[in-house]
Amino acid sequence: MSLTQQLFLTLREKILSQQLLVGSRLPASRILAKDLGVSRNTVNSVYEQLRAEGYVNSREGSGFYISEQLPQFDRSPHIAKGKPVQDWPPLSDYGHQLLKRSGGHGSKPKDIANLPFSVGLPDFQAFPIKIWQQLIRRHSDRPVLMGYHSYQGYAPLRNALADYLNVSRGLKCRPEQIVITQGAQQGLALCAQLLMNPGDTALVEEPGYSGARKALISNGINLQAVTHGDNGINIGALSEGEYRLLCCTPTHQYPMGGILTASERLQLLQWAERNRCWIVEDDYDSEFHYYSQPIAAMAGMAERTPVIYMGSFSKTLLPGLRLGYLVVPEHLVGVFVEAKAFSGGETPLLTQAVVADFIEEGHFYRHLRRSRKLYQQKWEHMQRLCEKHLAGIMTPVAQSAGMHLALVFNHQQVDDRKVCQEFAMKGFGGSPLSSYYHSSRSQKGLVLGFANTSEGERVKGIKTLSQLL
Ligand SMILES: Cc1ncc(COP(=O)(O)O)c(C=O)c1O
Repeated sequence: MSLTQQLFLTLREKILSQQLLVGSRLPASRILAKDLGVSRNTVNSVYEQLRAEGYVNSREGSGFYISEQLPQFDRSPHIAKGKPVQDWPPLSDYGHQLLKRSGGHGSKPKDIANLPFSVGLPDFQAFPIKIWQQLIRRHSDRPVLMGYHSYQGYAPLRNALADYLNVSRGLKCRPEQIVITQGAQQGLALCAQLLMNPGDTALVEEPGYSGARKALISNGINLQAVTHGDNGINIGALSEGEYRLLCCTPTHQYPMGGILTASERLQLLQWAERNRCWIVEDDYDSEFHYYSQPIAAMAGMAERTPVIYMGSFSKTLLPGLRLGYLVVPEHLVGVFVEAKAFSGGETPLLTQAVVADFIEEGHFYRHLRRSRKLYQQKWEHMQRLCEKHLAGIMTPVAQSAGMHLALVFNHQQVDDRKVCQEFAMKGFGGSPLSSYYHSSRSQKGLVLGFANTSEGERVKGIKTLSQLL
């Protein structure tokens, strides 16, 4: 900070904390300047600023005095630090709930979210950073990307996405149906706000994505868990009833990896039609299948079904981009765009323009092909390591390929949360399988992200885990 700023803040602090008393006179500028070894101009400009902001008054010919109008209580910023929580104005009920649940910290500390085996990270080293930088340079000085643009999303990105989704994910959508979001998480929050009322019941997969549960709960929605069948959500366990929304991952169940058969997917669509229930199809990482080619999304299987398709670039590019998308029925585009305008507003334009060209020029498809191959090798390596070091202790769920491996403890008494805490202390991430459950009927195990690990980290990590267990 400049000397002027430093002196201003110091004097203001002394006035607010009443170290300089109301009505007292500030030292003459000539003397203070000499004492501090600064120019008299510096002191004069600080006194003028204090006067302009109302902290001091000037009296003709006799200097500056601390204002009599300042109310008498300690307003110094430092007292806020020690203030007991109950002395602050109250939070909303929702704020209280979150405070209680998170203990006042954000949900996942950054250092745990980005360790080897932390779930959901793509391989940062494999990201084509040079091409990305070229595209950023291409767009960074375009005035059209510097202002406000469109809540729905940058049109060239929606065009490129519609092509990708129709060709690679089997959808039949038009660019006009796409709403770009700040990650899937914003998409989920919009669905929760627009498709349900507080107090309604939503169905969620068990085990399933905690981000979906949180988005629903935070909008006052009750959850009912649907159990897991052989291939993912147990269609036979779906009862007929007053459900407004079902959130699911039909082409790559999260985190167990199963794929619903075509017949199960059609039954699910029929159930939704019959019960007038929305389905949010979360297509988070369906590009990464190793037993077969990627399976087309359920949203493309039948026209005019109540499916909201949700995608994200968090796995296919980088989670740090915070870029996702919804494909919604045409009659709902307006209302989704309006709600997005109220919660979060526009999505950063430069990122959208770069991703549009990245897809349009073929880099996205190449990156997906390479990543699929790379992750398959890493997955096979993980399987070998688990067979060698964890046999008899944990059993890998073979289908849970993609970017993570789910492992179930052979003895279900093991406390998987404690194992994760101890594994984190050794420098490794991963999530307890029980944290993917809404009800208390959880299976105990671990979910280990492998896409962003090196060979050495995998070897060291699995050996460490084996010793720990
Ligand atoms: C099942 C599932 N859906 C969606 C997402 C993507 O969320 P976002 O786009 O908000 O990063 C994730 C990320 O971990 C996920 O695991």
